[in-house]
Amino acid sequence: MKIYFELNGVPQYPEVEPGESLLQLLRRLGMKSVKEGCGTGDCGACTVLVDGRAVRSCIAFAARAQGKRIITLEGLGTVNDPHPLQEAFLDAGAVQCGFCTPGMILVAYELLSRHPDPTPEEVRTAIVGNLCRCTGYRKIVDAVMLAAEWKREGRWR
Ligand code: FES
Ligand code: FES
Repeated sequence: MKIYFELNGVPQYPEVEPGESLLQLLRRLGMKSVKEGCGTGDCGACTVLVDGRAVRSCIAFAARAQGKRIITLEGLGTVNDPHPLQEAFLDAGAVQCGFCTPGMILVAYELLSRHPDPTPEEVRTAIVGNLCRCTGYRKIVDAVMLAAEWKREGRWR
């Protein structure tokens, strides 16, 4: 079945297989930031934004992308032109192995889109479904708070 959706602002018309997950489709389209951790909806590593909402792509069917606007980390920023959230994660030392980082950043992006002045507790609540084996979470919360401050200062594009 052929579907249509927008991926990081670019129209896509892929064929999808019955039962194919959104995670499999996005990786097939070259979105290597979308990670498979658990594959069962429990770790958040595969998180992408679907019409602005954080979705676990491993447990969503690819066909669900039909007509949607999907953003992966590739759509936020690049190595040469990072998004302020990516810069904040680096500044705060919130990235170690980096496996959880794309999902964390997209969940943080969703949170700050609707609530630009969260408390650390609200950040912790937002990322509760995103598992990190490396950082102990404190620096991730620091990074999101820093990015929120930058957003309020008008430093986001
Ligand atoms: S890989 Fe999707 S939630 Fe873990
Ligand atoms: S930085 Fe390694 S899992 Fe989070």
